[in-house]
This record gives sequence, C-alpha cells and structure tokens, in this order.
Amino acid sequence: MLVILKRDDEAISLQAAQLIAGAVHKKPALVLGLATGSTMVGVYKHLVGLHQQGSLDFSRVVTFNLDEYLGLPATHRRSFRHFMYENLFAHINVNSHNIHIPDGTIRGNYDEYCASYENSIRKAGGIDLQLLGIGRNGHIGFNEPTSSIGSRTRLKVLSQETIDDNSKFFAKGEESPRCAITMGIGTILEARKILLLATGKSKSAAVAKSIEGPITSAVSASALQLHPDVTFIIDDAAASQLTQRDYYHRVLEMTALLTPDRLF
Ligand code: F6R
Repeated sequence: MLVILKRDDEAISLQAAQLIAGAVHKKPALVLGLATGSTMVGVYKHLVGLHQQGSLDFSRVVTFNLDEYLGLPATHRRSFRHFMYENLFAHINVNSHNIHIPDGTIRGNYDEYCASYENSIRKAGGIDLQLLGIGRNGHIGFNEPTSSIGSRTRLKVLSQETIDDNSKFFAKGEESPRCAITMGIGTILEARKILLLATGKSKSAAVAKSIEGPITSAVSASALQLHPDVTFIIDDAAASQLTQRDYYHRVLEMTALLTPDRLF
C-alpha cells in the first residue's frame, strides 16, 4: 500500500489526474473504474483540462462507475449519471458506448441486473484502474459497514450516516434515496490497481482505520489492505489521525528511487 500525503484538495486532484492520464497514455484502451462525490470534482476538472489541451485521449477508454442511487432516473440532477456527464463525460471524447453506470431505475430482478453489470466488467477484460472516494463511515462505493469483503455488485441499503451526508444535496422536502446499486468489495478488489482519494478532517478516522486498523467488515475500506496495488492520496487533514506518516514519506521516496513503475 502506498500512501501519498498532499497539502490540500487541489494538490490531490492534480496528482490523481496526472496518475490517471499516465495510465491512459500507457494503455489507451484502459478500463477505468470511476466514482462520484465531492472529492472527485477537482480530479475530473483536471482530466477535462488535460483533454482540452490535447494531451489526453479518451476515445478508447472504457469506464465503469461504482454505483448509482436506486429510484433516480438518469435525468435527475442528483443521479450519479448526471454527475458524471456534468463533471466529465460531456467534456471529453469518451465513446458513449464505452460508458457503464449502474441503472438506478431497474425494478424487480436486481440480482440478474447486477450479475449482468459484473459480466460487462468481465467482458471488458476487468478494471485496470479503480478510482475510489471514502465515506466518513469507511464505505467505498456504497459498501456500508458490515458489507461482506467478498460482496459483488448488488442492491444495497444505505446507512443512516450516508443518507444524512447525502441529504444536503437534495432539495428541501425531497427524500434522499435509501438504496443504491453498488459494485461489491469483492468486485473492487479485482481491479488491477486502486487509487483512493480522501480530503478533510471528517474523513480522518475512516482513513486511519482503513490504513492502520485491522481488516474488518466494520470499515469496508480496510479490505483494501488485501489488495497488492493500492495507492491512497490524502490531504493533511484527512491524514491527521495516521500514526506512521514519516514512514509513508520514506516509502514514497524509496519507491520513486527503486521502483518508479509502481508510481504508475
Ligand atoms: C460515490 C461513492 C462514494 C463516495 C464517498 C465519498 O460514487 O462511491 O463511496 O466516494 O461517499 O464521497 P465525497 O467525495 O462526496 O465525500
């Protein structure tokens, strides 16, 4: 596990966008797993900037989003599909046939739908690079605490903490969604490379438990300790409860010197 400590949100966004751009340069038909949420806004802004400068071509990139609220049509301004078009897809040359986002409007046979989403990932050759945010409760995707470490894409009931965190984005009187379709932790762990971003003090406990705590279903992101190639990029505030910060700096220096490929 690599831990990159950055000053603030802007530095994180820039570094993450550069790492993603580097991965696309290496493999133009990259299969890229994407997340939504406020942490991703700056990253997508930089990716759009790199594309507009002519240095980043998404024409062969295939994308899979982690999750979508259940019950929100694609046109809803708070749907993750809307978020993705507004912040990224509408501004880059990704082929719309290569975009995959769970369908929040499905009704009925959820298992069948979720199995078909997993199947699409498999048919695309698996996810090369998965981008993740983290919830205050340690969720990745919408894998709330107590999610099975082996879980696959499925219908998931959201925790009260997540509903409360998200309700600020919905209009007064509008009920924020109670359920979502999300990739599972097992699905995420199959990505070849994982990049998790976290900013702000409110994430510091979840970040510390994920990196330095025991692997437990009580903190979904702690399952990332099982993955051979995970990079956390976190700002000073989100890193404030980590106890091994000096060590992470040294690891990074030595990695740059000895195994720079590991840095994308
Ligand atoms: C969204 C997702 C979530 C968010 C997490 C952090 O697609 O998968 O796990 O990454 O809730 O959200 P922000 O960045 O808004 O704090």
